[in-house]
Amino acid sequence: MRNIRLAVRSAVGQTNVMKPLLFLVPLLFLAACSLPSTTASNDEQYFLKEVKPVLQQQCLRCHNGTLPAPALNLSNRAAVFKHSPKGKTFIVPHHPEQSALIKAVQRGGTHPRKMPHTDISLTDDQIGMLREWIAGGAFWPEDERGNLKPQRSGENP
Ligand code: HEC
Repeated sequence: MRNIRLAVRSAVGQTNVMKPLLFLVPLLFLAACSLPSTTASNDEQYFLKEVKPVLQQQCLRCHNGTLPAPALNLSNRAAVFKHSPKGKTFIVPHHPEQSALIKAVQRGGTHPRKMPHTDISLTDDQIGMLREWIAGGAFWPEDERGNLKPQRSGENP
């Protein structure tokens, strides 16, 4: 027992020289882990966790491709960013103030073209989240995760 304790003590003693540098180990490890995950994956997370649920719950019921063109179709990336013949730009990456989508959700109240076109409005947080998403480049996955379907909100009616 005594031998073990001595061995431990001397091992600890030896690491003392290294101690000032030891705190760097977890930092370097974290840095190494986060390097390969580029901003694309942050953008992906933001889209999947924040943007997609709101669009699916509040917009897809109508904007799913069944409204006559050139109405906004939010069901997939290609449809969303398709050039509208009327020249209307629903989402202008990096420019929320030029995006018809943001103008529409900001109308609110009794405006005849407020969006969602129902008796509810998005919260300020949700509008801010959409603005931030567009300001950051409006990332939208090209694969099946970018396919949106109508969805009821979390709470069961
Ligand atoms: C109950 C159905 C309905 C819902 C829900 C809905 N919309 Fe609409 N929206 C419409 C209709 C109908 C139009 C008019 C179609 C057209 O452009 O001719 C429209 C038009 C728009 C337009 C283009 C009109 C303009 O003012 O430039 C935008 C942008 C839009 N909606 C965004 C949204 C967004 C974002 C949501 C979800 C937050 C949403 N809408 C939810 C029915 C709906």
